[in-house]
Amino acid sequence: MASPFAHIPLRTHCSPQNFSQPLRRIPLLFLPSISISHSKNVSAKLVSSNREGARDTIEEQTIESSSSDSTPSPTSSSKLVLVVGGTGGVGQLVVASLLKRNVKSRLLLRDPEKAKSLFGEQDEETMQVFKGDTRKQEDLDPSIFEGVTHVICCTGTTAFPSKRWDGDNTPERVDWDGAKNLLSAMPSSVKRLVLVSSIGVTKFNELPWSVMNLFGVLKYKKMAEDFLRSSGLPFTIIRPGRLTDGPYTSYDLNTLIKATAGQRRAVLIGQGDKLVGEASRIVVAEACIQALDIEFTEGKVYEINSVEGEGPGTDAARWQELFKAAEYQ
Ligand SMILES: NC(=O)c1ccc[n+]([C@@H]2O[C@H](COP(=O)([O-])OP(=O)(O)OC[C@H]3O[C@@H](n4cnc5c(N)ncnc54)[C@H](OP(=O)(O)O)[C@@H]3O)[C@@H](O)[C@H]2O)c1
Repeated sequence: MASPFAHIPLRTHCSPQNFSQPLRRIPLLFLPSISISHSKNVSAKLVSSNREGARDTIEEQTIESSSSDSTPSPTSSSKLVLVVGGTGGVGQLVVASLLKRNVKSRLLLRDPEKAKSLFGEQDEETMQVFKGDTRKQEDLDPSIFEGVTHVICCTGTTAFPSKRWDGDNTPERVDWDGAKNLLSAMPSSVKRLVLVSSIGVTKFNELPWSVMNLFGVLKYKKMAEDFLRSSGLPFTIIRPGRLTDGPYTSYDLNTLIKATAGQRRAVLIGQGDKLVGEASRIVVAEACIQALDIEFTEGKVYEINSVEGEGPGTDAARWQELFKAAEYQ
């Protein structure tokens, strides 16, 4: 049963009803902008692809922090993106990137205090925080979804027993029960839901995936994927390889905004669960955000890896090409 309270404000009382009201704006402390600089003219061109995945190898792009450039990227501000698991490794980068883009976000978290330490004080026009545990249906009050246009779900726990399983927060409970609860509570008005899953979910009985799946993580993620497919919701599934870069624990938005995938910024996108490798959380977060706006990714499943080389950064046209190219392999 839905609980009437299910959300907790980050700093002042906050509800979906007052979300659209004018509020005192609190400066985004520690929020420099990311500028995408191109040392030469950049034409978004897919220069190579291989059997396993579409690869963007454009060379000129670098991501650098700049405190002088405060121009927000032109992403639609009419969005309200619900990020579930927004303080986790991928989730924190999704949220930081939405903040940078001036896209409103709403976080659903078990511990709202974590959002405060990670993202600082944000005004409610920019970011809201609701308290909720996806394992508990009663926490998924309809008010959480009020006004939400898009959803990115990046919840998860460890594949093997760890402290993060405390309180029965196991793969079965988070990746299956939690996902199922969330998807069941989702209103049909949502325009796109991106679910972060994993490579290998279709092969959980085969080596080496069966080792990773000893406690069921891949099987439960696959069950959640199947549930989503049959839900009728407009979805995109992103299956990353082994994650690198983060989670960042310095609790500083600046760190998140400035995070780069180092030398491994090039992106491989595949379909059919054939890709094997690693994926930078920075790249995965960007893929989730980009997929929200790429119409043809609706109803599709993509695997993603990052490899050494230059990548698409935040360039929407390049991401579109990468997703498209994955479909032609
Ligand atoms: N690690 C890898 O190599 C790898 C590879 C492929 C795919 N993946 C998947 O990629 C996704 C992102 O991974 P990550 O390592 O970046 O994430 P992560 O750091 O493990 O973060 C997971 C997030 O889920 C939240 N969460 C956990 N249980 C929850 C619950 N019961 N209710 C609500 N929220 C809950 C956590 O919040 P709390 O602070 O409340 O715990 C945290 O914000 C996950 O789905 C993961 O399984 C990971």
